[in-house]
Amino acid sequence: MTEPPARPGTTVHLYELAWILPSIAIPIGMLAALAVTAFGAGIHLPTVEGRVSPTRVAQTAPFDTPGLRQTGPDRYEVVLTSQIWTFAPNEIRVPAGSTVTFVATSKDVVHGLLIAGVHVNVMLLPGQVSKVTTRFDRPGEYAMVCHEYCGIAHHTMWGKIIVEPRS
Ligand code: CUA
Repeated sequence: MTEPPARPGTTVHLYELAWILPSIAIPIGMLAALAVTAFGAGIHLPTVEGRVSPTRVAQTAPFDTPGLRQTGPDRYEVVLTSQIWTFAPNEIRVPAGSTVTFVATSKDVVHGLLIAGVHVNVMLLPGQVSKVTTRFDRPGEYAMVCHEYCGIAHHTMWGKIIVEPRS
């Protein structure tokens, strides 16, 4: 028969609201950020660029002729193969201001391709083709390293990109 004691409800209500609102706003904010980056900025997970038989890399175009080729004004393509414990080619020369697309794969185990100073960081998986494009504006030497552990001499697996100044 006794009424529950009257409580100062507003204090509890505001306190709850202070937690409820952010718990709604934060996921909505994250979903909005996801939508903007995915559909607006076009940032998404890498997709399958192509496949190649891992046992026949050396016989399959374009990997039968690894190397650098010019594809347009200031544009180059590097067909790159990786194997324990080297890249082919291991040294690449391009003029400053070049946009370079790397088309790469592995002939044996999982390797990685990381180029210091630019946005290149991909895995090189046997059977899969990895493709990544970047621009080299500043002249200098850029280290190109394998960043996936690939065996006893993993640490020796590196090469360089020499970006030559414009004359
Ligand atoms: Cu190749 Cu580590």
